[in-house]
Amino acid sequence: MSPPVKPGRIERGGAPRSFDAHAKTYDKLVGANPGYHEHLRMSARRMGLPNRGAGLKLLDLGCGTGASTAALLEVAPEAEITAVDASDEMLAQARRKIWPTTVRFVHGNAENLAMNGIVGPYDGIFAAYLLRNLVHQDAALRQFHRLLRPGAPIAIHEYSVRDSLRSRTVWTLVCWGVIIPMGRIRAGSGDLYRYLWRSVLRFDGVAAMRKRMEAAEFEDVRVQTVPGWEQHIVHTFLGRRPAVEAVATPRVAEAYDDVDTEAATPVDGIPVIRPT
Ligand SMILES: C[S@@+](CC[C@H](N)C(=O)[O-])C[C@H]1O[C@@H](n2cnc3c(N)ncnc32)[C@H](O)[C@@H]1O
Repeated sequence: MSPPVKPGRIERGGAPRSFDAHAKTYDKLVGANPGYHEHLRMSARRMGLPNRGAGLKLLDLGCGTGASTAALLEVAPEAEITAVDASDEMLAQARRKIWPTTVRFVHGNAENLAMNGIVGPYDGIFAAYLLRNLVHQDAALRQFHRLLRPGAPIAIHEYSVRDSLRSRTVWTLVCWGVIIPMGRIRAGSGDLYRYLWRSVLRFDGVAAMRKRMEAAEFEDVRVQTVPGWEQHIVHTFLGRRPAVEAVATPRVAEAYDDVDTEAATPVDGIPVIRPT
């Protein structure tokens, strides 16, 4: 168990330690958000993983208490899933749940996965609400790119409000009206949720995040949002490692090709957000 977190302002690199302190109440808090689990499943489905994941090795980075792992498992129940998190306590909560033997949890820093024996190659990476918390986001994305097989997809599920005044306003109202007070009541402190509010306002807008992924050499980068109050607040940023060696993973590459990146209405009916 990690030593207790000292009170004070949470900064990006310190997030895992702060999650330790909130791990026991995390599931209840996110469970109060009606779309939380469905939106994770939506992003996982958007990866276009074929054959229920049979024969695929997948990574869930920043798995927390396992909500994103469960979403990945639901769309790819036959895959081998490695779920990584830097918070001991979040992982402890994840491990308390019932999982098939094909799911394993690893304690490690997503900014240096090789240190924990996570070397790939993987057939898909899912990272939900992680990237914003990392100190070196560009280097992390390049590392994720290297871990993927050619042609394999990545889905970064993340808040992104910077490009829209409406999104920033709704986000601020919901944080200060609901999330921070609930954090205070349920966890005895609103510090993590004030950090959440601040870190989301500071994080990339959709256009900057798309550029960040392209700079990390992901191709077919596209963005979709979710329905409900989080529309244009939560997004799936999709991309894939170029299929220069496509023969290595024909099934994943082909399945992802089935998702028409130019279609006005993609597989799940939520419009693709076009670059402006
Ligand atoms: C908001 S939670 C999301 C958990 C889960 N993906 C979900 O969708 O519910 C973010 C998680 O990222 C983890 N995290 C933050 N920085 C990390 C890092 N550098 N390496 C690994 N995990 C990290 C935190 O410990 C926390 O569990």
